[in-house]
Amino acid sequence: MSSSPQRTVVVTGSAGRLGRAACRELLARGWHVRAFDRCPSPAGESIVADLADAAAVAAVLQGADALVHLAATPDDDDFAARLLPDNLLGLHNVIEGAKAAAVPRVILASSGQVNFVQQYEGPWPIRVGDPLTPRGWYAITKVALEAAGQIHARVTGAAVISVRLGWCPRDRAHADELGASFHGPHCYLSPRDAGTFFAAAVEHPVPAGHHIVYATSRPAEIEMVDLEPTKKLLDWEPLDRWPEGATDDLPG
Ligand SMILES: NC(=O)c1ccc[n+]([C@@H]2O[C@H](COP(=O)([O-])OP(=O)(O)OC[C@H]3O[C@@H](n4cnc5c(N)ncnc54)[C@H](O)[C@@H]3O)[C@@H](O)[C@H]2O)c1
Repeated sequence: MSSSPQRTVVVTGSAGRLGRAACRELLARGWHVRAFDRCPSPAGESIVADLADAAAVAAVLQGADALVHLAATPDDDDFAARLLPDNLLGLHNVIEGAKAAAVPRVILASSGQVNFVQQYEGPWPIRVGDPLTPRGWYAITKVALEAAGQIHARVTGAAVISVRLGWCPRDRAHADELGASFHGPHCYLSPRDAGTFFAAAVEHPVPAGHHIVYATSRPAEIEMVDLEPTKKLLDWEPLDRWPEGATDDLPG
């Protein structure tokens, strides 16, 4: 009896909050997961290396069927010490590595922070084509990431999905901050919904080209971002609503 060969996905940032959720779901669906992070990853084939190491990034991408690029400094921080190496040099190395390895499906982690003002002032739902109002330098690195995704799709013919991820708290204090914020409960992304989103993003047939989508769980009340294009592109539906799953898998 023959079975189809196991498909390989590279997940960067695999030791982090969203990376763990992505790896868990992809492993459950039978993917071989190369888990790339500068910290050891709890699931998948752990590869401990830094995005700044272009050779290590190129090597991990060889022969991969898909890439989920999550590794980054995940919020505003020291520009020269953190955002520049992690979010921009790292992005460059990942995109060039994916090009050299001809990875056919690339998922890039963007953020709702590219549309910061509209989160507070509306109009809602925020749509993918609305004018960008980045919050700060972190959000600017995500605008650059979306631009890199667009160029990569055009140059290589790959299917690239830049996903403006909702808010998935990284620790309990972060969850408290989300709960106390104005927009957090409407833009929450649970680990479970993140996992199924990333699985759909690598598995569902999509046309070549660059696709920008939002991914959040179901809004608490206000439909703050437009999930219709995501549902249409990937046949994906979120199941959770804040605070379901928010503190699952968190230390302490
Ligand atoms: N969690 C959220 O609410 C949220 C919202 C929008 C976008 N995002 C984006 O999703 C991605 C994942 O976020 P997260 O919340 O899981 O963050 P996280 O901090 O929990 O995980 C990031 C992981 O990336 C790794 N990493 C960072 N820089 C690296 C480097 N130079 N080389 C190798 N590994 C490196 C870290 O070790 C960490 O394990 C990020 O790109 C972030 O900007 C997150």
